[in-house]
Amino acid sequence: MKIVVIQGPNLNMLGVREQQVYGPMRLEQIHAQMKDVATQNGVDIEFYQSNLEGEIVDRIQECYGDADGIIINPAAYTHTSIAIRDAISAVNLPTIEVHISNIYRREEFRQKSMTAPVCTSSVIGFGPFGYHLAMVGMMQILSEINAMRQAQASTAQQGEVEE
Ligand code: DQA
Repeated sequence: MKIVVIQGPNLNMLGVREQQVYGPMRLEQIHAQMKDVATQNGVDIEFYQSNLEGEIVDRIQECYGDADGIIINPAAYTHTSIAIRDAISAVNLPTIEVHISNIYRREEFRQKSMTAPVCTSSVIGFGPFGYHLAMVGMMQILSEINAMRQAQASTAQQGEVEE
């Protein structure tokens, strides 16, 4: 099972940037905690951060045929990027959108997500803990998909035996 975590612009500045909004935790600390959870559960995890829209589109596309799920915080591109939205739709993988802050309590321009409607679910406003919730949520989604596939395979096998 492999999860790819994609972080958008300015999230490399966490711990420095607007601490009253995003808190004191650095991105490396958030990723270290996610890595611990992944290791404990036998899940492969990769982390990627970029300030560039096209690079984020490329990284999403690379997940096709390689990853089982995506956890993404598109940051400011959440509110503007049709390209990132289309990339998420194109790879058609379970995808969880994370926002550290509650975007619905902030400026009006942050209250619209271009990307959330094409994601499986969203975790919003829990601070950095939201990434942990997204990990737990993603592992649950992936194990349900796995169980469904196994049930389908055994039904198909039974059909072959009966024929
Ligand atoms: C953010 C919210 C966005 O509006 C903002 O541009 C970010 C971070 C969040 O995690 O709360 O960079 O995605």
